[in-house]
Amino acid sequence: MEPANPGDGCDLAVSAASWRKAFVRYLRGGDRLPWMETMSGQIQEPHSGGPLGSRFLLAREAMRRQMLVAKTEHRDVALRHLLTTRPKFHSPEGGGLECWGLGPGPLQLITNTVSADSLTLETGAGLSTVCFAIQGSEHICISPSPQEHERIRAYCRGHGISTHRIRFVAMPSELYLPTLELGGRKLDFALIDGAHGFPFAIIDYFYVNRHLRRGALLALDDVDWPSVGVLHRYLLTEPAFEFVRFIGPRLGVYRKVGETHISGACQVFNKKRNYSHLPLWRQVRKRIEDVPALVKSYRTLVKALGLQMDET
Ligand SMILES: C[S@@+](CC[C@H](N)C(=O)[O-])C[C@H]1O[C@@H](n2cnc3c(N)ncnc32)[C@H](O)[C@@H]1O
Repeated sequence: MEPANPGDGCDLAVSAASWRKAFVRYLRGGDRLPWMETMSGQIQEPHSGGPLGSRFLLAREAMRRQMLVAKTEHRDVALRHLLTTRPKFHSPEGGGLECWGLGPGPLQLITNTVSADSLTLETGAGLSTVCFAIQGSEHICISPSPQEHERIRAYCRGHGISTHRIRFVAMPSELYLPTLELGGRKLDFALIDGAHGFPFAIIDYFYVNRHLRRGALLALDDVDWPSVGVLHRYLLTEPAFEFVRFIGPRLGVYRKVGETHISGACQVFNKKRNYSHLPLWRQVRKRIEDVPALVKSYRTLVKALGLQMDET
């Protein structure tokens, strides 16, 4: 996948530059660097003026470790700031700005589960997108509003969070997902939190599912909406998915554990037919007809009473 927005990277650039300067100073025979204290006893420091090669290796290892510590601290600070300030990225039809973002638990699920090695996707955009950016995953964010994307980019720029690994797609997911190509790669994590009217969550699920690897997590927000809840109820019956847990009152998390079958008759979801659209007396007859053992006695009873069998 192409990095979609080259030039957006800005995280830790300033501190990296100052470390580079210190690194060069040390190589030139300058004093031991303060952040090498953390490595005492782990790596043997050459005597001052020691061979350039070993000074280089020591300084490089110290710098690598220090960058790791700094990155982790930077992520924690960025996440804490996002959770406490909840910036407004979304614009309702009447104008103004609002935050329709996920709660702290679901946002922490992203930061705890996703890493720079992950390939991730979300429908919808917002606080969740910032979390994917903080974790540095290779990410596809689909929502029809380019203004939302610009607000998210601006927030990230202002907080030293790189968005260079995010591909922002300014299209409705129902139009973009059928065309999605990952060059044979599979998604590690997907969040469905885009359009909430029926049947958009189901359309998102249908096209995202084919790109999920076995073991990937699927997060589905707002299962309390009937248009989304129907997908939650289906997933609970689907052997190819394992329900992991709810995070907060409305975000369901599922793990893909196998391949789904699209033949309706094979799906556990369709095992029990629903006759609630029929008048009560026909519902009872249909229920009886669904149990083969009862059909024979039902036929006998219908015959004995001189009634007609239901035609279907
Ligand atoms: C509830 S918000 C997403 C919140 C986000 N996950 C967060 O944590 O801030 C719903 C999002 O769906 C987007 N959206 C609306 N219609 C869409 C569509 N047809 N396809 C994809 N996204 C859509 C909106 O622009 C908005 O970003």
